Amino acid sequence: MKVPFGTITISDLSKRLIEEILSTRRVSSGKYVRMLEEKFAGLVGAAEAVAVSSGTDALVLALATLHDFGASRGDEVIVPALSFVATGNAVLHAGFTPVFVDIRRDTLNIDPARIEEAITEKTRAIMPVHLMGKPADMDAISAIAARHGLTVIEDAAEAHGALYNGKPAGSLADLGAFSLYVAHIITSGEGGMVTAKREEYGDILRSLRSHGRTCSCKRCSLNTASGYCAKRFHGNGGEDVRFVFDRIGYSCKMNELEAAIGLGAFELYREILDKRRCNLLHVLDRFGRFSPFLATIREEPWERIGPHAIPVVVQEEASFSRAELTHFLEAHGIETRTLFASMPTQCAGFAYLGYTPGEFPNAEYMGANGIHIGVHQDLGRKEMDYVLATIAAFLETHQK
Ligand SMILES: Cc1ncc(COP(=O)(O)O)c(C=O)c1O
Repeated sequence: MKVPFGTITISDLSKRLIEEILSTRRVSSGKYVRMLEEKFAGLVGAAEAVAVSSGTDALVLALATLHDFGASRGDEVIVPALSFVATGNAVLHAGFTPVFVDIRRDTLNIDPARIEEAITEKTRAIMPVHLMGKPADMDAISAIAARHGLTVIEDAAEAHGALYNGKPAGSLADLGAFSLYVAHIITSGEGGMVTAKREEYGDILRSLRSHGRTCSCKRCSLNTASGYCAKRFHGNGGEDVRFVFDRIGYSCKMNELEAAIGLGAFELYREILDKRRCNLLHVLDRFGRFSPFLATIREEPWERIGPHAIPVVVQEEASFSRAELTHFLEAHGIETRTLFASMPTQCAGFAYLGYTPGEFPNAEYMGANGIHIGVHQDLGRKEMDYVLATIAAFLETHQK
């Protein structure tokens, strides 16, 4: 049996839209991107949603809005030490310094009890990650942010469909960032989405994604049949506002073909989400039998985990290594991914920040001992039972 990590569902709607986009040749960001943004904002309950070309860009743009509110280059943003490396990279790309805080082993998320000791006068924001779709402790994080006047940005890249106290990930803080990469629940192939609680962020985000230019209308008229914009030449000296730049920007627009894939995924969202949740919960509910040798996460009554993947962590009690487990699973057709790494101490690019191995014991433990396995919509009960049976067979032969 094969249990691949990811999949993509391309609906008939996507195919129809793609054909239309190609035949009209209106490929760059236009009405379908806008439609996807509107649907996404509605789903999450955000005032604004702005589509970009990746989840990483979504994080960078959300962070870069801080410059409009008084942040300086080199200011600090607090992030968990454990995440996909894009979380830390994005902070640097937006012109800030990441300050890392260790995670809790039971939640895989930033440990709120350690955040305040990392706050300095340069701190501008806290960016928790809902790793594996499990919501970070947003009540505690929001209370700390309010005490210190900090912005909160959710890295919700993996948290499509996650709920915290009944509210969707992406609506729990000032800004949120989703990845629409293939392995994620709503996908556009490659892509990302920034969600914002307040409308004022919308213009800033649209400007940032297009080089920092002045013009940032929700509905740009240039990529339409008329191609005419009545507002264009009304700058101070009659200059073209498309070539006036208000801020340092990026170039990360989504195109119509990607939006068409995303809109198709939207149609199937509930179905995909339900299938993935069924898969995830089937395994989580039965995982206790592998204790104390393997651990995973647990869904708490106040939350719904966004079904991204199943984390599996080899515990100290185990007499086998992660490499042995990984080889066994892969040899039996079950694809695995590592559970990322401690960015400051296990990812070479961050070495210049001067952290030393051992400073983030929990994140480093996950980096050395964690994996994750897919729960996507093309898998079902049969495949999840196979994953459980394969792990059980591994333990029988490898645990002494
Ligand atoms: C937690 C986290 N943040 C950010 C990203 C970046 O998203 P993308 O790969 O779309 O740039 C990912 C990627 O999956 C992720 O898992």
